[in-house]
Amino acid sequence: MASLMSGPAPLALFAACLPGLEPLLAEELRLLGTTPRPLGGGVAFAGDRPLLLRAHLHLGTASHVLLRCTAFPCRALGELQRKTALLPWHEWLLPRTPYTVRATSRQSRCYHTGAIEERVRNGIAKALGVAVTDEPAEGVLAVQIAARFVQDQLTLSLDTSMTPLHRRGYRLDSRKAPLREDLAHALLLAAGYAPGMPLLDPFCGAGTIAIEGAAIAAGLPAGRLRPTPLTGTPWFDESAWQELLNALPAAPLGLLPDASIAASDRDAGAITATNANAERAGLAKAITASCDALTNQPWFNTAGAAPARGLVATNPPFGIRVSGGDLGNLYQTLGHRVRTLGPGWRLAILAHDPRLARRTGIPLRQLFATNHGGVKVTALISEG
Ligand SMILES: C[S@@+](CC[C@H](N)C(=O)[O-])C[C@H]1O[C@@H](n2cnc3c(N)ncnc32)[C@H](O)[C@@H]1O
Repeated sequence: MASLMSGPAPLALFAACLPGLEPLLAEELRLLGTTPRPLGGGVAFAGDRPLLLRAHLHLGTASHVLLRCTAFPCRALGELQRKTALLPWHEWLLPRTPYTVRATSRQSRCYHTGAIEERVRNGIAKALGVAVTDEPAEGVLAVQIAARFVQDQLTLSLDTSMTPLHRRGYRLDSRKAPLREDLAHALLLAAGYAPGMPLLDPFCGAGTIAIEGAAIAAGLPAGRLRPTPLTGTPWFDESAWQELLNALPAAPLGLLPDASIAASDRDAGAITATNANAERAGLAKAITASCDALTNQPWFNTAGAAPARGLVATNPPFGIRVSGGDLGNLYQTLGHRVRTLGPGWRLAILAHDPRLARRTGIPLRQLFATNHGGVKVTALISEG
């Protein structure tokens, strides 16, 4: 009776993120009504299938949501295949769902990742009653299964996101060194960006920070433009996903009465990309994009052009030198310009080298540190 009353056991879920973003992701999960448990590289939580869909729609700082299928001790490849074949794979995959298996192994007798992947594939095929197929070709949308051995304990997880969550669907035009959408989102959340707060990115590139900010300002969730999650699995539920989308604000720009978002870049191609991306995101009207070098950005140059308070959130060039001068000078100029906006403004900056960020001359404290495409990145914010 007790088990009937309590319903099916909650799913064991894990939202993965870039290292360093765990506290921000945990807070997003808390707002979704879960009890998050931050771990290295992500946050564990429990929930049902509707929550899994809501996580795909709302999480802005996660890169994947994994379903932990099972964990068991295992010391040999034969045992691995036998135990894998006994699992209820028909609950997680359809017989024709393309899938890939990726293995990792640490301090375990099963150490050959290629052999682990092969045995897991064999076990899955046996459980589903189908022939073992080749790995799907590059570019085919496939469910990823992670087989993780640590000290002879295997954990099998299924990546329910199919494609990384930072691929929101709007940034089809990008320029040099584009910022990942989840990282732009993290910078804004960590900086306390909130609806109604004016926002400026004077090194906007493809417009990622401005577009993520406009979506936050409009109350639009990060995953709204992504394909329906869980395609090809027994969990696919188009109508439940559409119901979530239908419940979103109908005229989001109506929610932006006093928000003002400006983006600029000295590169004309960057502004074309920003406008095209903002259009795809449904947020073109919320962002004023202009082709201006830092020193010509209108909010810095025209008295009264900038609102009295707001946030400059940006990731300036990372390289050692930029054409036309030293990067240190560029950061120094940025600091000088931000100070001219007045005491109501704060600066949030993503920099490869915090020493460079300190060349702004503005006292900064660290928000988080992470890795972006193999490059160490630190997010900092001005005090006050
Ligand atoms: C690291 S990228 C920004 C990437 C951006 N966050 C995105 O998501 O695409 C730095 C940008 O700064 C611009 N830039 C470099 N020097 C500049 C200057 N003096 N004034 C304005 N923009 C500049 C570059 O054209 C480049 O687009």
